[in-house]
Amino acid sequence: MRVGVIGAGNIGTAHAVSLAREVSGSTVTAVFDVAGERAQAVAADLGARSLPSAQAVIEDESVDAVVIASPDDLHAEHALACLAAGKPMMLEKPLASTLEDAQRVMDAEVARGERLIMLGFMRRFDPGYVALKASLASGDVGEALVVHNIHRNAYAAYGLDTTLSINNSAVHEVDISRWLLDEDYAWVQVLSGKPGPDVPDGQQDPLLITFRTTSGVMVTIEMFMTARYGYEVRCSVVAGNGILDMDDGTFVTRTSQGSRGQDIPELWLGRFGEAYRAEMQAWIDGIRGLTGPAGASTWDGFMAAVSCRAAVDALNRGKAVEIDVPNRPAIYST
Ligand SMILES: NC(=O)c1ccc[n+]([C@@H]2O[C@H](COP(=O)([O-])OP(=O)(O)OC[C@H]3O[C@@H](n4cnc5c(N)ncnc54)[C@H](O)[C@@H]3O)[C@@H](O)[C@H]2O)c1
Repeated sequence: MRVGVIGAGNIGTAHAVSLAREVSGSTVTAVFDVAGERAQAVAADLGARSLPSAQAVIEDESVDAVVIASPDDLHAEHALACLAAGKPMMLEKPLASTLEDAQRVMDAEVARGERLIMLGFMRRFDPGYVALKASLASGDVGEALVVHNIHRNAYAAYGLDTTLSINNSAVHEVDISRWLLDEDYAWVQVLSGKPGPDVPDGQQDPLLITFRTTSGVMVTIEMFMTARYGYEVRCSVVAGNGILDMDDGTFVTRTSQGSRGQDIPELWLGRFGEAYRAEMQAWIDGIRGLTGPAGASTWDGFMAAVSCRAAVDALNRGKAVEIDVPNRPAIYST
């Protein structure tokens, strides 16, 4: 698979390097970024061409499939262009920056009648979450009753904006808890309280978000964007017959000079490196026809957008909000 990359920032560059050097069955042939020097540097490093626009990448004859790693508010535009060209894409999360744009992308894919989008919810490929889901499915601890999530960032990489904390960051927990439990949300409430020291006036951080699923499982998310000390993601499942605690991905505990400790990554790449690589391999294997569709679908991205919109409403209105689950289009039934 010859891949074109749109957006050569943090994650776009990591995906491009992974596709060129780690993943089997793929090469990177074209790159575009509005910051031309970034695209040129990545292209030169990987033996690809730097092209003058996103459309040029999408239409280029040397591009079979596209990675979209542009900022959130461009996802819909770039995804719609790929859909129009009939090219499969790995679209970074979230599906779009608004629910309306998410709906437009899903409608366009449904109108084409074929699934071309894999959404970048990479936690579905993280060994920790995969093991957690398998443990839950084995039935050993019984039925899940509560899922506790913790998501802390050292700093807000795109600036602290409370709506973005939900739509861009907590969206990971919204998706992964829905995937772990295999059910949708019916209700959400969001609390905020004393702000952390790096929180500008008018913004709220941390947030405590609570969803209830259609069967009644409670899902809590502590979302703390400006935690200073590092990047940390944790997940525990409280079930009827036991508890499952996911390892945080630390492999080594260092004991020395009277103390014991572990290094904490500064950013997500440090915690989820293996998940990103496995996600890219699964995407390439899927579009080569070696496996079925992999990872999160447009429907998953749409349901995450529906759930995040309800959470933002709940925060703004200061009260719990019910969530209506729309009908799932047939192309997403498998
Ligand atoms: N799955 C994950 O865990 C994960 C992690 C990080 C980022 N992301 C997502 O990936 C996307 C990019 O995030 P990032 O951290 O790499 O941001 P970034 O700011 O490092 O990179 C974004 C890049 O897009 C470029 N860009 C801006 N306008 C463009 C345009 N019109 N066409 C093409 N490129 C354009 C910018 O110049 C920049 O290089 C975001 O949507 C983010 O939500 C996902």
